[in-house]
Amino acid sequence: MNDRPKARVAVLISGRGSNMAALLYASRAPDCPYEIVLIASNDPEAAGLAFARAEGIATFAQSHKGMKRAEFDAIVDAELRRHAVEYVALAGYMRLLSPGFVAQWEGRMLNIHPSLLPAYKGLDTHARALEAGDAIVGCSVHLVTAELDDGPVLGRIEVAVMPGDSPDTLAARVLIAEHQLYPRMLAELVARESSPDWLLGEVRRRALGLPEAAEKLSHGMPAFHIAGGKVFGYFTYDHHHDGVTALLVKASGAEEQAMLIERDPDLYYRPAYLGPSGWIGIRLDGGDVDWEHVAEWLARSWRTVAPKKLQGLTEFIA
Ligand code: GRF
Repeated sequence: MNDRPKARVAVLISGRGSNMAALLYASRAPDCPYEIVLIASNDPEAAGLAFARAEGIATFAQSHKGMKRAEFDAIVDAELRRHAVEYVALAGYMRLLSPGFVAQWEGRMLNIHPSLLPAYKGLDTHARALEAGDAIVGCSVHLVTAELDDGPVLGRIEVAVMPGDSPDTLAARVLIAEHQLYPRMLAELVARESSPDWLLGEVRRRALGLPEAAEKLSHGMPAFHIAGGKVFGYFTYDHHHDGVTALLVKASGAEEQAMLIERDPDLYYRPAYLGPSGWIGIRLDGGDVDWEHVAEWLARSWRTVAPKKLQGLTEFIA
């Protein structure tokens, strides 16, 4: 993993930027899988910007005032792309995002929130938790979706409420937990695309979603088959000590195999042993896997082996 280039991350801030600092300092560990390449803010006065400049990180600051939400987000988006950013970390970014921007970065944009989500979305989380008499509060890192503070939670840290806590004393303690959680979750997110376990989980979810699909070990590989019938997909990880992580599916034959490989030699290959019987390898280790494409291949491969009685079900799948 250490020989992979570090993932390029931008942090969006509106204020103090202590989480940004935590992300940055964590990135200085030699084995950290990400680097911070840009700090952007919708407030040119944000204290975190001065800090970023002192650290020699590229900054971008523009006030959103007087601009439509989508218009402003398009400017930020262009800046992110100019810096070849791959992941976006929101850290106290006090802007609601336009749906277009969220869609552009889906799965690659995360946020930190000072509550144990799904509890206390929105503002004043600590005051609300104290008001409710909670004994345990905390913070959460989640993927950003169109709904505020609502995306899949990647991780949380719990913090005990102490007698006499005020919203401020509680916020200060939760902030310490935030600084622990955020760098770890960001590192996990950027590293997971090179994790065979994570890739297998993604393939499995899609393969087992097909009618009557089941899993077994075959030729030492996780294999997806139609219950009591034929295999339509293999997950291969370093199988021939070649370091390759890939999905094997049924192509129509040698001609199609050759055509696919010629069209995209970084994505497709002819697998050893199974190649001669028409299987094609789809690499999953190139980063940025097109999961819709993987799902389409699985469905197609399923159709080639499904018995007649199941073929009628194909209208329900891609
Ligand atoms: C943090 O409490 C974070 O959870 C929330 O906004 C605050 C930002 O603080 N989203 P900082 O700017 O990172 O110091």
